[in-house]
Parts: sequence; C-alpha cells; structure tokens
Amino acid sequence: MEKFVINGGKPLVGSVHISGAKNAAVAILPAVLLADGPCVIENLPEISDVSTLLRAIKQLGADVRAVNKSTVEINPIPANTFVIDKKMAEGMRASSYFLGALLGRHNRARVAPPGGCDFGVRPIDQHIKGFEALGAKVIIENGMVDARASVLRGCSVYLDVVSVGATINIMLAAAKARGLTVIENAAREPHIVDLANFLNSMGANIMGAGTSVIKIRGVEHLHGTNYSIIPDQIEAGTYMVAAAATGGDVLIENVIPKHLESIIAKLEEAGAEITEYDEAVRVKMTGRPKCCNVKTMPHPGFPTDMQPQFATLLAVADGTSIVTEGVWDNRFRYMEKLISMGAKVRVDGKTAVITGVEKLTSAPVAAVDLRAGAAMIIAGLMAEGTTEVESIIYIDRGYENVAEKFQKLGADIKRVPIINKETAYKNA
Ligand code: EPU
Repeated sequence: MEKFVINGGKPLVGSVHISGAKNAAVAILPAVLLADGPCVIENLPEISDVSTLLRAIKQLGADVRAVNKSTVEINPIPANTFVIDKKMAEGMRASSYFLGALLGRHNRARVAPPGGCDFGVRPIDQHIKGFEALGAKVIIENGMVDARASVLRGCSVYLDVVSVGATINIMLAAAKARGLTVIENAAREPHIVDLANFLNSMGANIMGAGTSVIKIRGVEHLHGTNYSIIPDQIEAGTYMVAAAATGGDVLIENVIPKHLESIIAKLEEAGAEITEYDEAVRVKMTGRPKCCNVKTMPHPGFPTDMQPQFATLLAVADGTSIVTEGVWDNRFRYMEKLISMGAKVRVDGKTAVITGVEKLTSAPVAAVDLRAGAAMIIAGLMAEGTTEVESIIYIDRGYENVAEKFQKLGADIKRVPIINKETAYKNA
C-alpha cells in the first residue's frame, strides 16, 4: 500500500500534458469485442481501470498486445466466452459495458454486477430496460446479470434518467442489431461521442451522438480499426482547478477546450484568468478565489466528476458558496476529510454550504473515491504543512502518473509505501 505525502503552499507553475479519457477508454475497450478483426487503440491512459479491463478482455480469450505505453492492439476473434466473473467486475463500474458488448457479439452475456466508486445506490435498471427493448431476456441470479437473446432487433428506448452507462450499453448492444434503434433522452458526454466515432470507424451507422436523440442503424459486421481516444476532460479540469487553488499559472496541454466550457465558466466566476488555445488552456489565479454556486448536471452542465475538486477550491474562497450535487445521491462523503483540514462545510442531503476560510491546514486524510482522492491532493497542495493522503488506489484508477505530473508543476508530492507499524516493529 502507498500514500501521497504533500508539502503544500506552493503555487503550481508550468505545463501539464493531459492523457486519454478514462471514461471513453473504458467504453471503447469492451466495444472492440464487436469487431471482426484486430483494432489498434491509441492514447489509452496508463491507469488501473484500463489494465483491469485489458485483463478481462484477455480472460475472454482475445489477443491483447501492448504496442507502446499508450497503444494496444486487440484481436477479438479468439474471444469465445461471455462470462465476466465477480472478481473481475467488482473493481470498476465499466465492467457493465461487457453486458452490451458481449450481448452484441454473442447474443449472450453473463456479467457480475459492477463495482466502482460508492456514491450511494448505482442502479442499472435503464441498461436492462434497453436490452429488454432490443429483445433480450435479462435475469439476475446467483449474483450475476445474465442477458440472452435469440436475435436483437432495433427498438425505441426512452431513458427515464439521463444515464451515461445506459446510453453506452444500448449503443453497444444495438450496433449489430437488426434495424433501427432510437435512444431518447440519451446522455451527451464527450465520451458518448467518442464511442460513436469509434464504432462508426468500424463500419457502424450511428447518428446524433452528442445530442439527446441517438439513432443506431444496425449493421451485420464491424471491421477492425485504428482509433485514438479523446483527451480526458476531467483530468484536465482537475489540473485547472489545482492551478487556480494554489494561485498558480499552468498551461494544460492536449485538451479539447469545447469539452471544458462549464469548468472554464465556473473558474472564471471564481476569479481565475483563462486563456483558450486550439488544444490547450492556460489557468492563472492571483489572489483569493471568489465564492460561487455550482450545481452538477449531465453534460453540458457542470460535471459531477469535478464536484469534489471544485468544492475544495471553494473551501478557501472569499464568502459562502452553495454546491448542489444533481447526479448522485451521496457524493459528499469526502467532506469530513476537508473539514478535518479546517474547511467550514455544512452538508444537507445533496447540498453543501461552504463558508470559505483563509487557509486549509494539513491533516492525515484518505481518498474515499477517485475524484474525492483528486480533491484531497488539491487540498494538500493548498494547505500549510504536510498532508498525507491514504487509499490512493482509488486515484490510480483514473489519473495517469499523478504525482509525477504535479511534481513537474513544482509541487512537493511524493508517493511513499505505507509501513505497517506492527510489521515494522517485528522486522526491527
Ligand atoms: N441511474 C439510474 N439507473 C440506471 C443508470 C443510472 O437510475 O440504470 C442514475 C444513477 O443512479 C445516477 C444517474 O442516473 O443518479 C447518472 O448515472 P450514470 O449512469 O450516468 O453514471 P455511470 O454511467 O454509472 C458515468 C461515469 C461516472 C460519472 C457518471 C455521471 C463511467 C465509467 N463512469 O457513470 O464517472 O460520475 O457517468 O457523469 O463513465 C468518475 O469518472 O469518477 C465517475 C464516477
């Protein structure tokens, strides 16, 4: 086990290169199973969610070959099973995408319910509604979700909630179904568009991705392809907020500024100076952040995956801010850690009222989930003194080389092994 040790109080200065998008990668990798030939996927982030998925794809029988650290070649032809067991599924949310991909490939999928970050109940009823509309029979037995169909037929599905996962899963299952599938009230996140572009590059016929109505005309075959994943909007947003929170000046490179609009708007409201370039944004902050209110919403609203990082910036803002979580039931579990660092926060259900303090002070904290972990790093970079962040396994799920990237910006952050006191004593 490891932890981050951070000596805070230094402004971040310099440039940082953003990796491929986690939430696009974790949809595109299972989608490879729909192809009739090898696929080369580039700009994969080097994170543990990707390595877990690649292990699962290998376990299904596919050939997986690393071309370099961000490129992989996958030949799905030998993949002959349709089962993802509990051990493989429990570590990540995206394992549910094997349901859509395997159903599309074999008309059969048996996948343990997904794990991933804990934000309260994470149902998959809308995924199942979509599979059933396509003609599959879905049962949950012995802790496994089992979906089977004799044939998948195009259908019309209206999502009762805007769900990224359900939109992706239905696209995967419908890409080779017979006829036209229409998803209404679909999610519009950049990674939905990236998946559609990937599937279309294999010969799929998908229109409307990025709007709330997606039309998928099923095709018989999908061929192999070469595809490069979009940059990670949330990784970019995390470094943008960290730059502002430390009173820094950082150029965030390899981004699509259009994907960052809501984050840019809120950072400007908080007093940051933002310059947009074709494939980069510069964030500069002088003085104390201003308070502002934020409500998270599906894209193009302010992303829930930026809520903990942005709330951490607001913890030192001048005045009182209200943060409302509009996507998940319980995404404020990290607030108690921030409070232990001196933040003044009152949480009432899905709302947090944050009264800015001048400074945070160091404390031993832990990542309670991936983005909350990123928020703890930002808090440590802002705070006076030495902050230790434990449970960083969550952070490694979604941020490539996070300590190295922050070090390059001048941060004093180190990854160090956690020495169990009892073992250390015995070994002494
Ligand atoms: N929901 C349902 N029924 C469903 C599916 C979702 O009620 O069948 C509800 C959820 O309970 C939630 C809302 O709909 O209240 C949105 O959930 P969604 O399905 O959009 O979330 P997800 O697909 O499970 C993805 C990202 C999350 C991100 C959310 C929202 C991946 C692998 N995960 O999750 O990312 O928070 O969309 O944008 O794409 C992260 O990267 O840290 C992360 C948690």
